[in-house]
Amino acid sequence: MNINQIMMKNQTILNEMTAPLLYWYQGAARDLPWRRDVTPYHVWISEIMLQQTRVEAVKGYYARFLEAFPTVEALAAADDDVLNKVWQGLGYYSRARNLKKAAIRLVEDYDGCLPADHKALLSLPGIGAYTAGAIGSIAFGLPTPAVDGNVLRVVTRLCADDADIMKQTTKDTVTAALAEIYPETPDEAAMMTQALMELGATVCVPNGSPHCEDCPLASLCRAHAEGTEMNYPNKPPKKGRTVVDKTVFLLRCGDRYAIRKRPSEGLLSGLWEFPSVDVVLDEQGAASYLRHCGLAVETIDRIPDAKHIFTHIEWHMRGYAVCVKEELPLFVWADVGEIRDIYSIPSAFKAFLKHLEIQI
Ligand code: ADE
Repeated sequence: MNINQIMMKNQTILNEMTAPLLYWYQGAARDLPWRRDVTPYHVWISEIMLQQTRVEAVKGYYARFLEAFPTVEALAAADDDVLNKVWQGLGYYSRARNLKKAAIRLVEDYDGCLPADHKALLSLPGIGAYTAGAIGSIAFGLPTPAVDGNVLRVVTRLCADDADIMKQTTKDTVTAALAEIYPETPDEAAMMTQALMELGATVCVPNGSPHCEDCPLASLCRAHAEGTEMNYPNKPPKKGRTVVDKTVFLLRCGDRYAIRKRPSEGLLSGLWEFPSVDVVLDEQGAASYLRHCGLAVETIDRIPDAKHIFTHIEWHMRGYAVCVKEELPLFVWADVGEIRDIYSIPSAFKAFLKHLEIQI
C-alpha cells in the first residue's frame, strides 16, 4: 500500500469510530467536576490543570482555584503570590502565570469572555493547539479536535500507526485526520473530544495492557486485530536530563525558618524556597559555608536526601536541619503556619516541607 492508501484506510477507521464511541461515552462518562457546570472558563481552567496532572489530583485544585478566582475578571486581578499559593503542588507554574496573562487579555480585548474561535483562542498566552481544540469543542461545540497523549494513543492503536508521537508532525497529522471526521453538531463535537480522552484514560490505558474487552472500538482496531496493542504508541525514550546536585538548608532560629524568593526569571521563578547551594556539601563543609555566610551555627544535622524531577532537569538534594543563633536579614524568617498559609514553596521541596510537617 502506498502512503495515500494507508491514509485513506486510516480515515475509514476513524470515520467508523464516531458512532460507537459517542454511544459508549454516554454510558461510560465519569462524573467529573468540570463536566457538571460547563462554561468556557471552567473548561479552560480544567484543561490547563489536566495537562501533566492526574484527574484525581486535579479535582481539589480545580475547586480551590474557582473558589479563589471564580471569574476571568478575578483571575486577571489575581495577586501573584496568592495565585502561586493556589497553584502550589500542581507544578509548571508558568501555566498559572499564563492563565493570568490570558485573563488580562480577555478582559482588555474580549469583555472578559473566551472567544468562540480557534485562531483567537490560539493567540492567547498558554493556549496551544490542544487547549484551543478542547475549549473550542467542549465549550463552544466547534469541530476542533484536542490531541493529547490519550488521543494519540487511541488513534495510533486504532490505525496501527507507528509514527513517533513525540514529533509535532505526528500530532499535526492526527489532528488533521480527526478534523476530517469530527461531527458537525455542536453537542456531538463536544462529546467527541471528551469521549476520545475518556477512552484513552479509562480503557485504552497508558501503563500496562489496555482493557480491549471493554472497548467500543475493539472490532475496528487494527492493533487489536494484530495483537500488537502494546507496540503503540511509538514513543522513543526521552533524552537524558541534566542532574543538578544541591545542598538544601532548613535554617531554624527559634520557631522560624529561613526562606527566600527565587529570581524572577527561569526555573520556579518568583516562588519561595529554602536556601540552597548547587553543590553537595558534607556536614563540615556545610557548617563552614554557613558560617562564611555570617550565620552562627549551633547545631547541624543531616536529614534524608531528596530528588525532584523536572522536564529537563533533576535535582539531587542533600538536606541539613540547622539551628542558628540569630536571624540573618538576608532571608525572610517565617514560622510553620506562615509557610503553610502564605508562602508558595514548590513541590520540588516537598520532602523538606514534610520535615516541617507541612503536606502539599
Ligand atoms: N484529560 C484531559 N482533559 C480531560 C477531560 N476534560 N476530562 C478527563 N480527562 C481529561
